[in-house]
Amino acid sequence: MRRKIIAGNWKMNKTRDEALQFIYAISEKLPSLDEVDSVICAPFPLLRTLSKRQGENLRIGAQNMHYADSGAYTGEISADMLTTIGVTYVIIGHSERRAMFNETDETVNLKLKKAFEKGLIPILCVGETLEEREKGHEKKVVKAQLEKDLEGLTKQDIEHLVIAYEPIWAIGTGRTATSEQAEEMCAYVRKVVKDLYGQVADKMRVQYGGSVKVSNIDEILSMPNIDGALVGGASLKAEDFVKLVEAGVNK
Ligand code: 13P
Repeated sequence: MRRKIIAGNWKMNKTRDEALQFIYAISEKLPSLDEVDSVICAPFPLLRTLSKRQGENLRIGAQNMHYADSGAYTGEISADMLTTIGVTYVIIGHSERRAMFNETDETVNLKLKKAFEKGLIPILCVGETLEEREKGHEKKVVKAQLEKDLEGLTKQDIEHLVIAYEPIWAIGTGRTATSEQAEEMCAYVRKVVKDLYGQVADKMRVQYGGSVKVSNIDEILSMPNIDGALVGGASLKAEDFVKLVEAGVNK
């Protein structure tokens, strides 16, 4: 059985003091990593503060990284900078970065390769816009993203990869995909990866993301192909984050 993975994506939220308050509030309350993987993906300046205090039941992730080892890339962060301060995960290709910061499938692919080379676990985000869904193109769009994003990875990479299916129309809108829509697309993500990489796709974890909250997570996680959630807004409150992670313990 695939262990569930609940990841909070804080986006551009929280100061250091707020992050400290959060981590002290959750540290005694999270279930163990044997039961569920819990991850906080925080802004860069908070990563060291959080990783020092992460304890045995939480892992820390970044929200982006560069694909080069080092060099003249003003404002960018390398994989080594992350691993050496205790970061385990990195979100790659979030739709906000694709839409606002020129992230392309080509850069996503380079970043995934670099993350695996350096021992980070990437959480790759894919998903369609509202317009694409209304035209019935959601599968075509997600398939094209996956084929380009995953090109040249190994089966071993795929085993450790986490993919978050995040329909853009459900992000921050309060408009969650129905659990059936989410399941259909997460199953489709697995099928596309299986066509590319074979049976190892059954070991890979696929999350749903988009307006997940305490009131809907149980239903979403009850679906057979949904192995967790990538949560934005609802991950900012300590007590809600604990409840979201608790929902991921396999019953
Ligand atoms: P919300 O949970 O705020 O809709 O954000 C989802 C998301 O983008 C997580 O990466």
